[in-house]
Formats: sequence, structure tokens, C-alpha cells
Amino acid sequence: MDASEVAACWEANAETWTRHARAGYDLYRDALNTPAFMANLPSVTGFVGLDIGCGEGANTRQIAKAGAAMTGIDIAPTFIRHAQEAEAAAPLGITYRLADGMELPFADASFDFTTAFMSLMDMPHQDRVLAEAARVLKPDGFLQFSILHPCFATPSRRVLRDEHKTVLGIEVRDYFRATDGEIETWRFGAAPEHEKAKVEPFKVPRFHRTLSEWVNLIIAAGFAVEHMHEPQIDAETAAREPYLADTRVAPLFLHMRVRKPASSG
Ligand SMILES: C[S@@+](CC[C@H](N)C(=O)[O-])C[C@H]1O[C@@H](n2cnc3c(N)ncnc32)[C@H](O)[C@@H]1O
Repeated sequence: MDASEVAACWEANAETWTRHARAGYDLYRDALNTPAFMANLPSVTGFVGLDIGCGEGANTRQIAKAGAAMTGIDIAPTFIRHAQEAEAAAPLGITYRLADGMELPFADASFDFTTAFMSLMDMPHQDRVLAEAARVLKPDGFLQFSILHPCFATPSRRVLRDEHKTVLGIEVRDYFRATDGEIETWRFGAAPEHEKAKVEPFKVPRFHRTLSEWVNLIIAAGFAVEHMHEPQIDAETAAREPYLADTRVAPLFLHMRVRKPASSG
């Protein structure tokens, strides 16, 4: 699948995605993924940052609130419009631009750090987006990203539950099957059934890579791995929101922080 087809899928997803995410239906993001990401983000006060694949901007806003001067880019015009409208309504000094993460419209060494929340596995050429992130970073700058966990969120993952909805295990298949834009169709699981029934499901093109492929891509882009994290929900939240309890059995997300060398020599 080429980049323009991927962009068309995200543009088609963007309206419902924004409305449902802002209604609180992206529960994995709000209750687990973003809080864990922010907890592991180094201090960014006074830093200049770029958020790659920013969507409607919720996470970009969190980083701006942590004190960074942020730019967010996304491939889908509707996401950028919603992000810009949110910025106009409650300014945080964020600039949003329509752009492809695999071809960033910024000069070399423009940013102190870059982030990518759940977007890199959605791009056809991860080597290019990692090389671009490295290019626009200043020496010693970092990229922190979250992706679907390469080992436990393969192209075929099924949560096994008993009749009480208790998670018994995770069935994982197809780990070694690289996908080239295979479409996954789903809605936010925490959305009420009547809301789900009103909308078309998201169509999400996936570009699955194994863990060793990811690590080798990161090394090839010139980064050094600095920190990794596999967030899991705490027992109390899992009891309150059984929907999230699968992350106590095996992680759904992988977080990495990687750093560009301070000098090339
Ligand atoms: C799973 S969503 C995550 C959105 C946002 N970061 C969040 O965490 O709420 C993936 C995002 O990546 C964007 N995306 C996909 N391919 C892209 C590309 N080549 N360049 C920039 N953004 C891209 C999509 O439009 C979408 O907004």
C-alpha cells in the first residue's frame, strides 16, 4: 500500500476518531498509554519539540502543557483542522502542519526532541520516518515513541476471556508475517454500543514488523536505545475497567526512547 492510500484511510477515520477520542472512548490511550508515556518523558521545559502523527493533538497538548514549544504534524487534513481549532480555542503555542512523517518539511537539527504516539507502525517506510526524525533532531536530541507491541499485538491477537470476562490469556499469531498496509477494522472498544452503531468502523492500515526489525531500524537510523517501557494497567483500574485488563497479562504497547549521538565524530 502506498503513502497516499494510507493517508486516505486516516482522512476517512479522522472525523469519528476525533469525536470519539474527545468523548473519552480511547480508553487505552487516556487511562494507560499516554500517562505512561508522559511519566517516562524527560523534562522538556523550554525545549522545542515535534510530534509526528499528532492526530487531533491531545498528546501534543499534554507535552506543550509540560513546558515545550511544540509543532505537530499529521497526514490527515481533518485531524490537523481539529487540532488547529483546539489550539485557537485554548492557545498553548502549538503549530500544526499537514505533513508526511516520512518527508518532514523541516531543516536539519530543528528540534530538541521528537515524539510519535502510536503512529510509526502506521507508516509504510519506518526506515524513512526514523531517518527523518534523526535528521531534524539536534545532536543529543531524543525521539520517544509508542507503538503496538511487536510481540504481543501482532497482525492476529485475540484476548481470551472466561464467562465473567476475566482475561485468561492472549492468543498471538503471525508474529513473523510482515504486513504492508493490511487493513484492520475496529471501533474504540469503550464507546457505548449505540455510538458504535452510528459510525463506520475505522480502517487502519498496519505495517507490522518484528521486535528485532524495529531495533535494527532504530540502530540503522543512528539512534542509541536509552529507555524502554511496556505499560500495564494497575490492579485497581483493571477491576474498574475490565476492558483494559488484558494489559496485565501481556503488554499491548511498547514505548522506546532513543537518542541521537551528541556528535557524529
Ligand atoms: C493511531 S493514530 C494516533 C494519533 C495520535 N498520535 C494519538 O496518539 O492520539 C495514528 C496517527 O498517525 C497519522 N499518520 C499515519 N501515517 C502518517 C504519516 N505518513 N505521516 C504523518 N502522520 C501519519 C494518522 O493520520 C493518525 O493521526
